Amino acid sequence: MKTKTYRSTKVLALAFLSLIIAGTVKVSAQESEGRYVPETDPLVLEKLEKWQDLKFGLLMHWGTYCQWGIVESWSICSEDEGWCRRKNPNYVEYKREYENLQTTFNPIGFDPAKWAKAARNAGMKYVIFTTKHHDGFCMFDTKLTDYKITSQKTPFHTNSKANIAREVFDAFRAEGLWAGAYFSKPDWHNENYWWPNFATPDRNVNYDVTTYPERWENFVKFTQGQIMELLGGDYGKIDILWLDGGWVQKMTREEVYKQVTSPGYKFTRVQNQDIRMDELVVKARQKQPGLIVVDRAVHGKNQNYLTPENRVPEKALPFPWESCIIAGGSWSWLPNAKYMSGRDAVQLLVDIVAKGGNLLFNIAPGPQGQWHDDAYRLLEDIGGWMKVNSEAIYGTRALAPYKEGKVCITKKGDKTLYLYYMADNDEKMPAQIGMSAFSLPVGAKVKMVGTETSLKWKKTESGFVINIPEKIIKNPPSKYVWVMKATF
Ligand code: GLC
Repeated sequence: MKTKTYRSTKVLALAFLSLIIAGTVKVSAQESEGRYVPETDPLVLEKLEKWQDLKFGLLMHWGTYCQWGIVESWSICSEDEGWCRRKNPNYVEYKREYENLQTTFNPIGFDPAKWAKAARNAGMKYVIFTTKHHDGFCMFDTKLTDYKITSQKTPFHTNSKANIAREVFDAFRAEGLWAGAYFSKPDWHNENYWWPNFATPDRNVNYDVTTYPERWENFVKFTQGQIMELLGGDYGKIDILWLDGGWVQKMTREEVYKQVTSPGYKFTRVQNQDIRMDELVVKARQKQPGLIVVDRAVHGKNQNYLTPENRVPEKALPFPWESCIIAGGSWSWLPNAKYMSGRDAVQLLVDIVAKGGNLLFNIAPGPQGQWHDDAYRLLEDIGGWMKVNSEAIYGTRALAPYKEGKVCITKKGDKTLYLYYMADNDEKMPAQIGMSAFSLPVGAKVKMVGTETSLKWKKTESGFVINIPEKIIKNPPSKYVWVMKATF
């Protein structure tokens, strides 16, 4: 991920939504064909197939930064970005105050069972939780640093649910969801990444790795050690390891040169930051067989699926992918976060599913361990739609032409198709719904999901039209997106 992507992620999700739904955002180089290296481990392949059936997950960004209601981590990085301003203009003081947030973090309202229920009722099937973001604060009981939720310096350490990551994973598993660990490879608190001996010009390691190889080696050991703590047993079954901070990666001299000389590139400290991922992944899968590894934005076999950020690809991608998208405000908790509407969320999910992807929907907890009421309302609204229509979400696969005007299409197995009509606000259901670039198989039986009435349909020149009877028009089985099922 380069600067541009980072900047764009800070813009409110709502501003993106019209673009997202219209599907006008360009496919990035990262998503172009050839950027995906298929997995070969059969257990991982099997798991990836199941993961593609799940379609809908929850991402949570939570750390001490929520106490200030600011963007996660980024304000301690020296990159000069408009979306991320420090409230104290003295950087040295600011950073000290930021790290001191550890001493006041006490989210006594933390009740992950409540979140897990809300997520399950909305139809979510997996959770990805920030065990550690770039600032280095650990939301789990690591033995490798004291900058953590269970430190004696953190008031919450006396709470019976102090090991927050474990509580989150347990609570969501209890509701039947898969557990995924977000983990930032860069660590801006660790002296082997940002060595206090030097200033920190940007997000990268701030010393020369080839001049100080022992220091880098200590960092590699630390990072691998922390990831193995998370995967080694205390945190139970982990299904997905979601690694962020793609700039921490192995690079040849040529690759470094290419980056540094590319137009608009402004980081000074780009270098080979090899944490020996291949070796780590082998160890990780010994503990967690079949583990899905997402080394985000790092080309190669350790990126089992791709993760377009805050946008939806223009068309279906020929490999597993997941759009991570902010439900309200920012990745991190903002006091006045505005959430997207139920209609926008459901249509976003359908648009993604029609292109063969998963939606990872971000909700951020606040300083007391609370979610906004609007977050619960939004999940309930989505859940209302899912109760009627979820069969047209789970287990489906993309099918060309994916989308035509307001109609999307998917398939499930060889004998079922789903057609989705994206309704505008207050739109009356049309008396005829069809496509011109796809033809239903002869003899297909069609119903609207959530009703029992068989619908009449006919072929047109190169497509089909389905007739919707007045009684369904008057009494639609759900809001936002009307779904038809064709079996044959
Ligand atoms: C962006 C943000 C980062 C966040 C991530 C989630 O890369 O900069 O803070 O964790 O998006 O996808």
